[in-house]
Amino acid sequence: MMTTHWRRLLAVSGVALVLAAGACSSSNDNNNSGSSSGTGGGESTDNGFKIGLLLPESKTARYESFDKPYIESKLKELCPKCEVLYQNADQDSSKQQSQAEAMLTQGAKVLILDAVDASAAASIVNNAKSQNVPVVAYDRLAKGPISYYVSFDNMKVGQVQGQALLDALSKNGADPKRGDIVMINGSPTDPNAADFKAGAHSVLDGKVNIGKEYDTPDWSPDKAQQEMEQAITALGKDKIIGVYAANDGTAGGAIAALKGGGFTAPYPPVTGQDAELAAIQRILVGEQYMTVYKAIKPQAETAAQMAVAAATGKAFSGQETVKKNNGTVDVTSVLLTPVAVMKDNIKDTVIKDGFYTVAQICTPQFASACQAAGIS
Ligand code: BGC
Repeated sequence: MMTTHWRRLLAVSGVALVLAAGACSSSNDNNNSGSSSGTGGGESTDNGFKIGLLLPESKTARYESFDKPYIESKLKELCPKCEVLYQNADQDSSKQQSQAEAMLTQGAKVLILDAVDASAAASIVNNAKSQNVPVVAYDRLAKGPISYYVSFDNMKVGQVQGQALLDALSKNGADPKRGDIVMINGSPTDPNAADFKAGAHSVLDGKVNIGKEYDTPDWSPDKAQQEMEQAITALGKDKIIGVYAANDGTAGGAIAALKGGGFTAPYPPVTGQDAELAAIQRILVGEQYMTVYKAIKPQAETAAQMAVAAATGKAFSGQETVKKNNGTVDVTSVLLTPVAVMKDNIKDTVIKDGFYTVAQICTPQFASACQAAGIS
């Protein structure tokens, strides 16, 4: 390690600066900002600072409708003088990389990152770290030296989906192996998708026949629709008794393919995730069987607290944390609990929580379905 004395002496000439830089990297000290403190921690909420918020896509409704406004409003409360720099990557990981670089150039002191590609995002995280900027991993655990992570128990999400599908297929003593299910998983660059898939398999394997299974690039609803069309062609319409769709966007694509492929009500049970408004309405009319409600508000607020803690050097506290290894470090993490939503508990979950009002769900088109489900 170089002493402060030596740093000062070396800093007086250009040649010495080059030497200093060499000494820094060879001593494996990747804090090249000149500060001797650990990553982040030097900011004050009295003066305010810039916070970068990077979300992955906009085809899934949650990011623009819930995550962004909830995170921004909590940050405003915790640090009124802070400025949020926001970007959405539209499912493009190199775009996300440039967005992160621009935020660092603009002086962001902490990043909240929901990575498009968790492995590729390691370069964002390393780059931030080299500038003494901590990174909070949001929802998806990116690789690299992450400071904090907040998400849901994603294996549990997959288990909840798989169990709901298995229960629906076994209703009234029916044989869940009487036909095939199709599995439409999420994006291969999203570590959550791997957890959802593993969780679902842990429940379904051996108990159902999986006729076809796909990983869906970019979580694209259009690609999910094509996958489902292929599955219907390959397996035959009459063979398909259920669909595991990893989220509501892919469920929407799969349901469009079912309708296009000649399926009519009662539809085979289709799972989902995110409690998107369109999915809640599909559940009411019997097109989708279930979704998973993940309370985004506490997730978003926790991310805001973590970001402010990391930037100001105060320990994040007040919630139960676990350590989650991301291949680089053990990350202090908060993992929230997902909830299955079916027709009969829409009222006690998303409506009770204020996620949606009755008026939002029960538009004229869905009025009679709402009434039948006792939602008014
Ligand atoms: C999130 C889901 C979301 C999906 C697609 C996942 O990482 O956990 O809530 O549906 O990405 O954006």
